[in-house]
Amino acid sequence: MHKPVGKAERKEVVAIIGLGYVGLPLAVRAVERGYEVYGIARSKDKIAMINRGKSPIEDALLEADLKKYPVTATDDPKVIAKADIVLLCVPTPVDELHNPDIAPVREASEMTAKYAKKGALVVLESTVNPGVSEEIIRPIFESAGFKVGRDIHIAHCPERINPGDEKWTVKNIPRVVGSFEKKGLARAVAFYESIVDGEIRPMKSIREAEAVKIVENSFRDINIAFVNELARSFDVLDIDVRDVILGAATKPFSFMPHFPSCGVGGHCIPVDPYYLIERAKQSGFDHRFLKIAREINNSMPAYTVELLQDGLNRLRMPLNGTRVGVLGIAYKANIDDVRESPSFEIMKKLKEHQAIVETFDPHVPGMSTQKTLAALLKKCDAIILATNHREFVEQVTPELLAKYGIRAIVDGKNCLDKNAFRKSKVWYKGIGR
Ligand SMILES: NC(=O)c1ccc[n+]([C@@H]2O[C@H](COP(=O)([O-])OP(=O)(O)OC[C@H]3O[C@@H](n4cnc5c(N)ncnc54)[C@H](O)[C@@H]3O)[C@@H](O)[C@H]2O)c1
Repeated sequence: MHKPVGKAERKEVVAIIGLGYVGLPLAVRAVERGYEVYGIARSKDKIAMINRGKSPIEDALLEADLKKYPVTATDDPKVIAKADIVLLCVPTPVDELHNPDIAPVREASEMTAKYAKKGALVVLESTVNPGVSEEIIRPIFESAGFKVGRDIHIAHCPERINPGDEKWTVKNIPRVVGSFEKKGLARAVAFYESIVDGEIRPMKSIREAEAVKIVENSFRDINIAFVNELARSFDVLDIDVRDVILGAATKPFSFMPHFPSCGVGGHCIPVDPYYLIERAKQSGFDHRFLKIAREINNSMPAYTVELLQDGLNRLRMPLNGTRVGVLGIAYKANIDDVRESPSFEIMKKLKEHQAIVETFDPHVPGMSTQKTLAALLKKCDAIILATNHREFVEQVTPELLAKYGIRAIVDGKNCLDKNAFRKSKVWYKGIGR
């Protein structure tokens, strides 16, 4: 239940470290719910934009809310000293070898431990493996002289935001919360109840809360790997995997549809399982299933390029020297986030085969080689559709491609009208269909 802050009461102060896809919507929501909010970011440009009421993230709802509920952004960590609640919303990436990089969490914790006032509640929102709060964050505060549970309260509330989702937002996605002690848990639950219109579930321990998030995203990774494997098998068996999944989804219980594609992207699903794989390995457990899922999903961009190569072979066109247009650089539809996008691996593989690569993404113009869909089609002989942006789903038809002389297309998101393409002269292939 939201407890509005009364006029006579002092507003609670919230400091949010990291104003990205997670931190900024949360900051705006906390302002909306009556908190005095300071967002701490590193980039001067980003700070200036946010203070002008402009969202650095492409998101119309967020932009409108930011205008209504302005967030004060700064690069001055001293604002942490004013905060009753400090939220850590920093990245948790992996390196090229898939080793977890916990340095941003460590740095944000050290910065908080340096400035936090006694009695503050510190909540980690970043996704981490079970053990990070206990093994990394807690010792940082203890070495800074805080007694956990008395001078400082530490909690973890893993973020679940799904950028681009208009139904499930920071305002209504239920949350889980864990802490080291009762008071920290109660304060964290009360805070999230004040900003989220959804269930806030206290977990028995902070480790459990950490594990919840990794389980959620590993569940998705494994299920996507399963259908990606089915797609490759059904390509050999000449069965349309999408039709089969839709058929299976008519079962009203014990089946949840997932769909294959040219790859898994974003800062979460292709990253988070490695955190569990690595931490479990340190304690002597080998996560074979999670590793295989990662391998299968990582193989999909190369498979997508193989499909195109196969199609071009049938048309007696070598991939070498063919101008291929990659439609979409963002990792998912209608957003501008390119982190871990399979498009990059697709482009890399195409270039390894000496193809000439052009790109167009209306949401990522800065990385596109062409400024419009028409300009890209004019230049290219073949297409890989890597992102199902609304514009592409609506506009990419056999007629349009034929008009520009496109000979072949791989629909990496299975989002186009397969039957219409099959009746046309443009060679079409989906992933498993
Ligand atoms: N993006 C999502 O959809 C999503 C969803 C759920 C959970 N998460 C998790 O939330 C965390 C944050 O993800 P994100 O997508 O918001 O990342 P992001 O990269 O969009 O934003 C994080 C921001 O923190 C800043 N930062 C890092 N260290 C800082 C410091 N010491 N001081 C100030 N700013 C600092 C970075 O510059 C960056 O702008 C990650 O652990 C991620 O796995 C992300």
